[in-house]
Amino acid sequence: MRRATPEDLDALMALETAIYPDDAWSSATMASELANPYGHYLVETGEDGAIVAYAGLLAPLGTGQGDIQTVTVAPEARRQGIARCLLSTLIDEARRRGAEELFLEVRVDNEAAQALYRELGFEELSVRKSYYGQGVDALTMKLKVV
Ligand SMILES: CC(C)(COP(=O)(O)OP(=O)(O)OC[C@H]1O[C@@H](n2cnc3c(N)ncnc32)[C@H](O)[C@@H]1OP(=O)(O)O)[C@@H](O)C(=O)NCCC(=O)NCCS
Repeated sequence: MRRATPEDLDALMALETAIYPDDAWSSATMASELANPYGHYLVETGEDGAIVAYAGLLAPLGTGQGDIQTVTVAPEARRQGIARCLLSTLIDEARRRGAEELFLEVRVDNEAAQALYRELGFEELSVRKSYYGQGVDALTMKLKVV
């Protein structure tokens, strides 16, 4: 696992567009996330150095709050604990920045991600209607950072 850099943009976008056909971020959005001084992006690489997963946090110092912006693992690298490891590290980083609460949005039909978040201690907060493409609702979840 390592910090993402602006040079990782193309590799992240290749995964992003493959895995989120209806909701992929634009390259400009991803670039701005990677450059955001309040952000913290991590990547996991395979044995050949290719990026197989990424995850990002947005947690401005002094606000006491943060957001998990994304977590994405290539299909061939799933169920190996990579997402759990990336998110645990981001939660540690949020704590280091003084965040007491972390939020995220997840598709209501994404049971895998919801199971992951619940395992990490996130709890359901509310539903945001038609938050995703094709009118899919989002579940907002919250973690009390201890
Ligand atoms: C959701 C996702 C990030 C999980 O990544 P992962 O690296 O496979 O997850 P992990 O191996 O760290 O799993 C940790 C735990 O999460 C839960 N979990 C993960 N995938 C699951 C699945 N398909 N079904 C049920 N539970 C699952 C399990 O509790 C798992 O622990 P276990 O393997 O010991 O049972 C991955 O499936 C993915 O990238 N999906 C597409 C993108 C996406 O939906 N991102 C989230 C957007 S909000």
